[in-house]
Amino acid sequence: LESHSQVVVGDVSDLADGQMMSCVAGTTNVLVCRVKGSLYAIEDRCSHADVVLSTGLLQGHIVTCPRHGARFDVRDGSHAGPPAHTGVKSFDISDTDTGIAVTLRKTERPDEFPEGGYLRTR
Ligand code: FES
Repeated sequence: LESHSQVVVGDVSDLADGQMMSCVAGTTNVLVCRVKGSLYAIEDRCSHADVVLSTGLLQGHIVTCPRHGARFDVRDGSHAGPPAHTGVKSFDISDTDTGIAVTLRKTERPDEFPEGGYLRTR
């Protein structure tokens, strides 16, 4: 898996069910949340404009953007409501010896995120 790298984003043991936090993985901002006991990680940037999603509202598996209300499913980053047209990236998240890690493609950089965002890429 040379094209992927795991980046430890820290200790999320305090993250309660239904809560979100923003983490930095390399140069990527990642929204980490816990829903019904499971951790999820998606890009912490709305595909509609450059706005962090982690200050929005999380209801079940759906996060609502704080700016204009676009919705995304934290399970896969898929688009779940307008005004955005596309989803955001999602990442694998796992427990490691040194903490929670998200898996990024080596090439993932913010300047590779085109306007309009991504559909699910993994
Ligand atoms: S910036 Fe997120 S819906 Fe517009």
